[in-house]
Amino acid sequence: MSQADRLWINVTLFNGLNTAVEPMAVAVTNGLVTRVSPMRELPASEQVAVEVIDAGGRLLTPGLVDCHTHLVFGGNRAGEFEARLEGKSYEEIARAGGGIISTVRATRSASEDELFNAALPRLEALMAEGATTVEIKSGYGLTVEHELKMLRVARRLGRERPVRVVTTLLGAHALPPEYKDDADGYIELVCNHMIPAAAAEGLADAVDVFCEGIAFSVEQCQRVYAVAKEHGLAIKGHTEQLSNLGGSAAAARAGALSVDHIEYLDEAGVKALAESGTVATLLPGAFYMLRETRVPPIELLRRYEVPMALATDANPGTSPIFSLRLMLNMACTLFRLTPQEALCGITAHGARALGLQEQTGRIAPGLQADLCLWNTNNPAELAYSVGLPTLAQRVIAGKTH
Ligand code: NIG
Ligand code: FE
Repeated sequence: MSQADRLWINVTLFNGLNTAVEPMAVAVTNGLVTRVSPMRELPASEQVAVEVIDAGGRLLTPGLVDCHTHLVFGGNRAGEFEARLEGKSYEEIARAGGGIISTVRATRSASEDELFNAALPRLEALMAEGATTVEIKSGYGLTVEHELKMLRVARRLGRERPVRVVTTLLGAHALPPEYKDDADGYIELVCNHMIPAAAAEGLADAVDVFCEGIAFSVEQCQRVYAVAKEHGLAIKGHTEQLSNLGGSAAAARAGALSVDHIEYLDEAGVKALAESGTVATLLPGAFYMLRETRVPPIELLRRYEVPMALATDANPGTSPIFSLRLMLNMACTLFRLTPQEALCGITAHGARALGLQEQTGRIAPGLQADLCLWNTNNPAELAYSVGLPTLAQRVIAGKTH
C-alpha cells in the first residue's frame, strides 16, 4: 500500500454517526479518507505517512456542517429585538412591515461588496468553530436581480474562503411590498423567472420556501417545488414553524432533502418524512430567540427513525447566532437530544440534509477528509460546555486551515 499523505493516530473517533470504543487511526491521501482502523490493527511498521499526527487520545470528528443559514443580509434587526423584549411578537412585527421585509430593504440597497464584507465575519465565526460546510440561503432580495445578487455573494464566499458553501434560492421567503395582495403573482415570478435565472447561472444548488400563514400556502410551495425539480434543483422547506399547515408532508411527498424548524409537526408529518427519507432539521436558535414553547416532536422523530439535522439558522431576525457549538448545547438543553444525537445533527445528518452524504459529514474511506481535532477526549463535552473545549485543527479536503 502506498504511503498516505497524513495519518492521525491515537484518536478518539466520532465518525459522524457513533463513537469508536477503542483508539483509532485515520489516513488521508489526495484529500480523501483512505483508511479508518483501530490502532491495534495498525502495527508500528505501518504508522508511516508523509505527516503523522499523534492525537494523544483527543477527539477527531467530521468537519462540522451548518445545513441552514441566511448569513448574507444587509443591516441588522437589533431594534426589532428590543421591540420583542417590550412585548411585540414576531408575527405582529412581520405583519406591520418589519421583520423579514425590513432586512429586504437593507439587502436591496446594499452592493455585492457590502454584502460580502458584512457576511465574511459571520462565515468566519462558523469556520472558527469547525464548520467546513455551510449552506447559505437567499431570501432577502425578493426580486430576480436581488436574489441573484445574494446568491453570487454566497458563491464568492465559498471561493474566497476554505469552506464548502452550498447555496439555496429562497425566493418564496416573504411577500415583497410590490406584490401586496398578489401572492400568486409573486409565486409566478419565482417560478417563471427567479428559478430559471438562478439555474441558468448555476447559482443555486437547492430551492427553499417558507410555508406559513405569514408567508406562502402549501399549494403555492408545491408550485415552487415542481419548477425547482424541472430545473434539476434539490428542494427544502421552512415548515411547521409557527403553525401546522401540513407543509412538511407536502415537501416530503415532493422529495425534499429536509424540512426545517418543525416545532408544530404532527405524527402524520413525521410518517411522511420517514417514508420519503427526508431529514428533519432542528433550529433551536430560532426557538430560543422567539421564546417558542412548543418543542419539535423529538420522540416521534426517534420512533420513526427520521434523521435529525441541527443548524444555526443564522439570520438577522430569529437567530442572530453564529455558533454551531451553541446549537449543540441548546439542542440538548431545550430539545433533550443526547449529545451524540446533536453531534450527528451537525455532521452526518447535516450533510444528508444537503444531499452531500457521500462527500462529507462522516469519517469513512472514500469521503472527503473534512475533519476537526478537538482539545478533549469526550464527544459529550462539545455539547456540554459552551466556549470550551477548543478546536485544535480544522481540516478541509485533507488540508489544515
Ligand atoms: O428561518 N422562518 C423564516 N425565515 C427565517 C427568519 C428570517 C428572518 O426573520 O429574517 C427563519 O427563522
Ligand atoms: Fe431559516
